[in-house]
Amino acid sequence: MDAIEALTTRSSAKAFGDMTPTKDHIDIILHAAVRAPDHGRLRPWRFMLIEGEHRARFGDMLAASALRRTPALSAGDLQRERDKARRAPLIILVACRAVPGTKVPVIEQILAAGAAAQNILLGLHNFGYAAAWKTGDAAYDPEVKKALGLNTDDHIVAFIYAGGGLGALFAPGKPAILEDAMLEFPG
Ligand SMILES: Cc1cc2nc3c(=O)[nH]c(=O)nc-3n(C[C@H](O)[C@H](O)[C@H](O)COP(=O)(O)O)c2cc1C
Repeated sequence: MDAIEALTTRSSAKAFGDMTPTKDHIDIILHAAVRAPDHGRLRPWRFMLIEGEHRARFGDMLAASALRRTPALSAGDLQRERDKARRAPLIILVACRAVPGTKVPVIEQILAAGAAAQNILLGLHNFGYAAAWKTGDAAYDPEVKKALGLNTDDHIVAFIYAGGGLGALFAPGKPAILEDAMLEFPG
């Protein structure tokens, strides 16, 4: 797949299959991630691979976070939170650890990490994996950040769920309408 094909055909998956992206593919994809534009070359991005049994601990973190927000959560809803971590064989966490004391605003550092996340999505798509970018309330929960070994002032930018093989399911391709997005210069 060439770059334009990847850019114009990517879409988010609803289900991810059981096949874990290979180490070689992940290595290439992470090298693509760190090619994202990055004001000041601060490299504010951080990545974490959550796979195998680590997903169970991650699921526990999601459930604990949901319970903090809603103490009366039913056992079923709690289990649904836990199960989110098992939606895909691999979750790539993308975070921003903003570099202090620079002229580059934090928002621009977060955007750089977001651009890295998009490169990851495109890289996964290029190799034929299903993927989707998720956040959710847990991404903003300081206790989740601590449990993941992040600093509470780090920003979780994405949990990218990824997998391949049978079971991968894509949302119906949405029409990519450019016209509505175009603004006219005033006057
Ligand atoms: C910063 C960010 C956070 C997102 N968080 C979620 C999320 O928590 N849950 C979700 O279903 N979609 C989330 N999305 C949207 C999906 O990743 C996806 O882009 C959207 O469903 C549209 O599908 P498409 O990528 O096929 O166009 C998020 C997207 C971005 C950019």
